[in-house]
Amino acid sequence: GLPNKARIVEVGPRDGLQNESGAVISTAIKVELINRLAEAGLSHIEAASFVSPKWVPQMGDAAEVMAGITRKTGVAYAALTPNIKGAEGAIAAHADEVAIFSAASESFTQKNINCSIAESLARFIPVIEAAKKNNIRIRGYVSTVLGCPYEGDIDPAQVAAVARELLDMGCYEISLGDTIGVGTPVKARKMLARVAKDVPINQLAAHFHDTYGQALANLYAVMQDGISVIDTSIAGLGGCPYAKGASGNVATEDVVYMLNGLGIETGIDLDKLVPIGHWITQELGRSNGSKVGLAMGCD
Ligand code: HMG
Ligand code: MG
Repeated sequence: GLPNKARIVEVGPRDGLQNESGAVISTAIKVELINRLAEAGLSHIEAASFVSPKWVPQMGDAAEVMAGITRKTGVAYAALTPNIKGAEGAIAAHADEVAIFSAASESFTQKNINCSIAESLARFIPVIEAAKKNNIRIRGYVSTVLGCPYEGDIDPAQVAAVARELLDMGCYEISLGDTIGVGTPVKARKMLARVAKDVPINQLAAHFHDTYGQALANLYAVMQDGISVIDTSIAGLGGCPYAKGASGNVATEDVVYMLNGLGIETGIDLDKLVPIGHWITQELGRSNGSKVGLAMGCD
């Protein structure tokens, strides 16, 4: 059955903004976005990404962003880290959590982080050691769980194997990424059923991009099986620079609206959330990707 409560992980400031191809977004806007999201009740925010600025220029000011935000008690500010260099940056910036990321597809891993899945996992060993030494939690991502832009269909057993490995390495939670949003509900449940044989369902999260408009349906499906942690992006911002055609994560506003309707508690104030989506999309000069945001208007 459905959970009573859900934890929303807001990834807009990272997954959303990393994919903006226009002018570099100012540090001040990123900081304001994160602060406003915390004020709206988001308690878990992926705030920055300590990746190579040659690969993802939009995240080049990660240290400045982390230094600029006003830390709200009870809010976890997380940072994405691809290697030990990134982990050192995240630790110096006092991230509450680091996120490491691999994929169920070899070709995607090569394009995204320039190494094999096995090499990516080996790279994370020192990241995990450094994080543990500093009492920082480690979250793991597995990308391409419902399809790969280069390989097509992905074997759920391969998703399970990478997820299990990340768990054994010390991640407290594994977020399952439908990176290119190609999944459909029954497929998502089948994938989850296989992964849940190797990783307890209460340590799994859903990270669904909405490229094909299926994310809400897929979320509703996997929530029936016990998923209660959901990654979302304000106004549906984002995508992945190494997954052509990928659009943003499911919009935070849309998920909160759905969960409100289902009587599932999130602690998030939708009336405060909607104006944030309008504001940030205006700043970026792009359209608002949240249907709920559009329906609830601009003022
Ligand atoms: P590489 O070129 O193979 O590595 O990149 P390198 O070690 O040769 O480094 C190249 C240069 O980058 C060097 O600088 C390094 O110092 C520097 P140079 O010597 O040429 O001046 N460098 C760094 N600088 C700052 N911070 C660092 C760092 N590391 C190296 N951490 C690397 C390998 C992994 C670094 C690169 O491929 C990379 O940064 N990739 C990141 C790609 C990325 O951010 N993708 C998007 C995030 S994943 C995602 O969105 C999916 C997710 O949302 C889930 C889903 O939706 O499925 C999580
Ligand atoms: Mg993503």
